[in-house]
Order: sequence, then structure tokens, then C-alpha cells
Amino acid sequence: MTPWLSIVGIGEDGLDGLSAAARALVEGAEVLVGGERHLAMVPEDGRRRIVWPKPLRAAFDEIAAHKPRRVCVLATGDPLCFGVGRMLLQRFPIEEVAILPSPSAFSLACARLGWSLPDVETLTVHGRPVAALQSFIQPGARLLILSAGSESPAAVAALLRERRYGRSEVTVLEHLGGAKESLRSSTAEDWPDDPVAELNSIAVDCRAEPGTPLLPRTPGLPDAAFRHDGQLTKREVRAATLAALAPVQGQRLWDVGAGCGSIAVEWLRAAPRAEAVALERRSDRMALIAENAQALGVPRLAVVAGEAPAALAELEPPDAVFIGGGATVPGVFEACWAALRPGGRLVANVVTLEGEAALLRWRQEIGGALTRIAVSRAEPVGGFLGWRPLMPVTQFAAAKS
Ligand SMILES: C[S@@+](CC[C@H](N)C(=O)[O-])C[C@H]1O[C@@H](n2cnc3c(N)ncnc32)[C@H](O)[C@@H]1O
Repeated sequence: MTPWLSIVGIGEDGLDGLSAAARALVEGAEVLVGGERHLAMVPEDGRRRIVWPKPLRAAFDEIAAHKPRRVCVLATGDPLCFGVGRMLLQRFPIEEVAILPSPSAFSLACARLGWSLPDVETLTVHGRPVAALQSFIQPGARLLILSAGSESPAAVAALLRERRYGRSEVTVLEHLGGAKESLRSSTAEDWPDDPVAELNSIAVDCRAEPGTPLLPRTPGLPDAAFRHDGQLTKREVRAATLAALAPVQGQRLWDVGAGCGSIAVEWLRAAPRAEAVALERRSDRMALIAENAQALGVPRLAVVAGEAPAALAELEPPDAVFIGGGATVPGVFEACWAALRPGGRLVANVVTLEGEAALLRWRQEIGGALTRIAVSRAEPVGGFLGWRPLMPVTQFAAAKS
């Protein structure tokens, strides 16, 4: 039996572009739901129409009240590709919903450009900050970006110029699949000031200028990639720390005493659907964390003001905890370990003997591994090169069963 609720993806070609099955759902529905643009594609025939309010969720009770009458939601393209489908499925179980997708804007853009969909990064700035694109800007990368509106292509071009990717080819694809479809390309450097349609998507073929720093998403970015006041986990130690924390999609990190936020930033870059909270008591450092999160493409990093252990009680339980400062503060370790979810990892780095004494006690209590990381970097000594040691770091890593 066809479920009472259907979500039909519709393109710029309107009802004519729908399959027979999708058309039957639209025609057979007693209630139609959608944005003004979508509902305008169906001639008025006296059926009940619900225009999406803001926020969309505000209409969900009314939709539910119509059950078991047939309700058809009209959505753009593929409803489960950055569309209303995801939110509707948080309220209505999939068993009650029939979803009939049309090609997404990504598929249509690939078809026009001759790009293979699995070879491109599929991104959006619709309702999300443009800064979130940063970590995907890599030499040779191809990006497809859903727009927030007519201003988005210029904002993307500006970001590329800032990152010294001005030579990238940017294509704006307007009204894909409709009578008003149009494609225009330029380099980010020469991006023209011409008006762009509200409905557009953006394609970027990333090309770096010579000498542009390479910022991969694997942990261990150069120290110079971060703004800091000296409180930075150095590159080699940072890479080893992230390896022990093991970033996993969907998991949450607490970066306790985050300094400039480098560990949380790299956790989020490594797993684009992971979460992180940076806890920091100093407001000047909180500002640095926020700045690094923006510049390195993870504006979703939650920066929380406060002192451990007291402030930890307010946070959602973590899957991984990094204690970069505060290993000797009474109660910090105990609070982190207690909050950690099963399977979670706790990693603590110290450089003092007092810190080491604390780590040894923790190891005796709960097991885990102690590792000493001693890094020396070759630096000029007079006219020669000599090893300059960084302070050795003792690292404790334990997993909770
Ligand atoms: C909320 S998203 C919905 C995406 C949709 N679910 C899909 O599969 O294409 C809306 C954004 O998709 C892009 N988009 C959707 N249809 C488009 C079209 N026909 N031409 C160009 N861009 C389109 C625009 O960037 C628009 O702002």
C-alpha cells in the first residue's frame, strides 16, 4: 500500500519532468505541501495547500493531523540531498513515507560539466557559513556547492582569492533543467560583478597559485596554519595526539583547556560530520579558537567559556576527550573519564613532572598507555644546523570499554 505521506522531488521543468509514478502521487494527494515556487507549478484546483512556514517544522503538526489522508510534499530535486526529506524523516518514520527523487542539482551540474559525481566534493552554503568550505579547497579538488542565493558565487570567489586560489575556475549554473538555464564561467580572480539568479549552484575547479600553503585534512597541519599565543600543541605531537583520539564521523570531542583550539579544529577537519567542543577559560584564547575555526573551515566548533571540571557538567557526553591543560587540576580527569561514553578515548598530554605524576596515577587506576614524545627540529646554529629539542611531552591514552 502506498504510504499516506509522499515527498516528490520536482525540477525546474515542473510537472512535465515528473515520472508517471511521481505525477500520480501529486495528482492523487488531498493535501499539497511546499514552498511558493513549488506549489506554483501545480494549477490551483481547490485542494488544501500548506506553504512552508519558517521554520519548516512549524507545519509538521498540521501535516500529521491529516493522516491518513494522502499528503504530498513537493521538494527540489532529490529531497534527501540537502533537502526537506531529512527533517521530515526525523518526525515521520520511513515506513509512512514514499520518496520519489528527481535528479539533484549536483547530478544536473555534473551532467553539464562532464564531472563524475563521486569524484567531486558535494557541499552547501545554503544556511551554512561560507567558511565551512575552507577545508575542501585543495589543489585539483572539484567542488559543487549549493547556493544560499544570488550573493553566494561572489562570496565563494572572494574566499578562493583570500586562500590564494584565485586561478580556480568558477562556474555558476542557474536554473538547471529549466527554460532559464544558463552557465557562466570565470576565474575567481576575475569574477565579474554581474547579477546572478537567486536559484543557482556553483562549481569550482580548484587551482592554487604557486607557493600556496598546502593544508590537507589529515592531522598535523604546520604550526603556522594556526593563530596562537604560544599555547599550541606542536605539529608532530598534534598528529600523534589526533591519531590516539581517532576522529570518527558523528562522534563528539571535548578539547579541555583548548588554548588555540588546534586539536578540536583538526578533529573536525578529519571527520566532517563529527562534533567538537573547545572549553577555554580565557576570553582572548576563545577569540583565537573562533578565528582558527573560521579560517580552517570548521565554524561549527562550539567554543565554550568556562573552567574544568565545573563547566564540564553542562556538556553533552563525549566520545573522545583531550586534556591539553589541567591534568593536575583536581577532579578534571575524574569528570572526563566519568562522562566519556563506552568505546570512548581519553588522551592527555603533559610537559611537567607534576603532570607526569598525575598521568602515572591514572594509568595505575584505569590502565592505558604512556608514551613519551621527544621531538627535535634542526635549526641554524651559527653557520651550521643543530638539533633544537622541543619540551618532551608525556602522553597518556586510554579507552573506556
Ligand atoms: C535546499 S537546497 C535543495 C537541493 C535539492 N534537494 C537538490 O537535490 O538539488 C537548494 C539549493 O539547491 C540548488 N538548486 C536546486 N535546484 C537548482 C537548479 N535547478 N539549478 C541550480 N541550482 C539548484 C540551489 O543552490 C539552491 O539554493
